[in-house]
Amino acid sequence: MLLLALESSCDETSAAVVRDGRTVLSNIIASQIDVHAEYGGVVPELAARHHLRSCPVVVEQALNKAGVQLEHIDGMVVTRGPGLIGALLVGVSYAKAMAFARNIPLVGVHHIEGHILAPLLEHDIPFPYLALAVSGGHTHLYIVKQIGEYEPIGQTLDDAAGEAFDKVAKMCGLGYPGGVHIDRLASQGNPAAFSFPRPMLQHKGFNFSFSGIKTAVMTQLKRMDTAPEGDVLADLAASFQAAVVEVLHQKTLRAARAHNLKRIVVAGGVACNSGLRNAFAEDNANMEVFFPSPLLCADNAAMLAVAGEYYLQRGISADLDLNACSTWPLNQAGAELLDFASRT
Ligand code: KG4
Ligand code: ZN
Repeated sequence: MLLLALESSCDETSAAVVRDGRTVLSNIIASQIDVHAEYGGVVPELAARHHLRSCPVVVEQALNKAGVQLEHIDGMVVTRGPGLIGALLVGVSYAKAMAFARNIPLVGVHHIEGHILAPLLEHDIPFPYLALAVSGGHTHLYIVKQIGEYEPIGQTLDDAAGEAFDKVAKMCGLGYPGGVHIDRLASQGNPAAFSFPRPMLQHKGFNFSFSGIKTAVMTQLKRMDTAPEGDVLADLAASFQAAVVEVLHQKTLRAARAHNLKRIVVAGGVACNSGLRNAFAEDNANMEVFFPSPLLCADNAAMLAVAGEYYLQRGISADLDLNACSTWPLNQAGAELLDFASRT
């Protein structure tokens, strides 16, 4: 099938054309970072308005880049949730209108389902595998048994890792979103310069907590007479990043071992982090570890096509009453779609 995918859950509007759920012909991303940067975070109402403007533009660019016309598209996939409700509604409504006008099937999928299946666009990875979904809104471990079958085995009890990166960057006066700034500075700093906690590292089970590390950075900043800059700022970034990375890396390896899994996927925006990539490159505990390439780690539409193709091929599609969901557990999303297939 030739699928047109649309993503608008947060601050990136993206459209992609993907063949057979595996071959990416185009993947256009219109970022709103400049719009939200002056507010230090995403302003939901502004995000929705910008998605409305960008949807027709990214769709046209995606078709052009892929060298196909709308008439060639066999089906559509859109992010149904979770995310900012106004932002999601723009993408869902736009996709419904296009699918209706063209009389082609549409399926609404889970944003994190897109992230954790994204490496399948670049590698053949047999199921099952362990997925660490690590982004601005999620830090979750799932056993991916099959497309649509996801068993949650751990999650953050407070901040997501990406959220902690963004908040620490803000405290340090770095730009938004902060992950990439911390990452860049950390490469110049000493990760042992400051001693930050590794929350829940010794706990049994596979939950995470990142708000304590963030508070420890804040306490450190308050102790300093002046705002850190230069080498001290780089040391602070490196020490913070080392704490987050150690917890993510060690707990993920432990979870894979405990569940007897031989393959690990690390996905979502924080999977761009060079410290996290290096940690798994240096120690993979004899497992195969897959990171999507950076463009497929951040929010993008192509990642939705893996699940979209799978569901549409099985006759699983949405009616025109498809609605966006701001919150939507991943295991429930997959089960709902597969249950629909078994009933029809
Ligand atoms: O998946 P994503 O693009 O959007 C969400 O679904 O949230 O993830 C965005 C998050 C932000 O918190 C951003 O700061 C973080 O990913 N991020 C990074 C890096 N690049 C993006 N965090 C650490 N290091 C990076 N290089
Ligand atoms: Zn995301």
